[in-house]
Amino acid sequence: MDDKGRHTFVCGHPIAHSRSPLIHNYWLSRYAIPGTYRTIDIEPTKFTQFMSDLPVSDFVGGNVTIPHKEAAYALAARSDDMCHLIGAANTLWIKDNLLHATNTDAQGFTANLDQQAPGWDKATSALILGAGGASRAVIFALQSRGFSSIMVANRTLQKAVELTHRFGPRVTAHTLDAVVELSRDVGLIINTTPLGMSQTPSFSIDFSNAKSGTLVTDIVYVPLRTPMLASAAQAGLRCVDGLGMLLHQAAPGFHKWFGIYPEVTPELRNAIVEDLVKFQ
Ligand code: ATR
Repeated sequence: MDDKGRHTFVCGHPIAHSRSPLIHNYWLSRYAIPGTYRTIDIEPTKFTQFMSDLPVSDFVGGNVTIPHKEAAYALAARSDDMCHLIGAANTLWIKDNLLHATNTDAQGFTANLDQQAPGWDKATSALILGAGGASRAVIFALQSRGFSSIMVANRTLQKAVELTHRFGPRVTAHTLDAVVELSRDVGLIINTTPLGMSQTPSFSIDFSNAKSGTLVTDIVYVPLRTPMLASAAQAGLRCVDGLGMLLHQAAPGFHKWFGIYPEVTPELRNAIVEDLVKFQ
């Protein structure tokens, strides 16, 4: 540690859009911790070298984002069980000169719903759209809260089928054609695909027959109110946007690097919302 404190980063490619520096710098300032958190743009061909240099760098750790999450998992000297299950890492730290990795997406997902929709886990059945890394984190989170039926609908059926092998018989695989039918009878619906992000197409789901208590959430947070959330709200369903998951997945990393478990406050959320609005 030098006189500027501990140094941390988020690396990805591209990385300029990342809101992680806003989040971590807000916490550094709020808790008056000396330290830095900055973006580093690393092209895929340079990522292996970047990872091998980290243990002898000034950094105590950092975040990894698209497209390096799978490579970070594969290259870290010590990956925890969460990484193994999800097959990707988003948080790194250096301990005993070794690069350690974890994945905090499941924790971020759960903490967001705990904060925004307390009691959400009284539901027992869920429908997940998508079968990538984010979907695996959500499945883990739902299983750890006791969901007995988790339906995964994906464009490529085979990828959803692979998840049934990985996570067991409570998980079932479906095509996207089945979504409207499946959505009628579940307590929770989660979009884990990039569909609905600004400038991309969205899912058009007819929620008119969904149960009235169904909660709908999206991991997309630009825009905050995705077309899917808008149509769920239109049908009178409860909705939670994806920004909270981003905020909450950041907290465990901050704790590892700086020793304080930071709070996700309305002020922090508002600061990020103000920044997001500038780009919509
Ligand atoms: P992540 O790790 O962030 O979850 P990913 O592993 O690339 O990202 O997974 C993205 C998910 O979004 C996948 O389920 C993908 O479907 P496929 O398995 O068929 O590729 C889904 N997805 C991406 N673009 C899509 C689109 N245009 N229509 C439907 N599904 C899409």
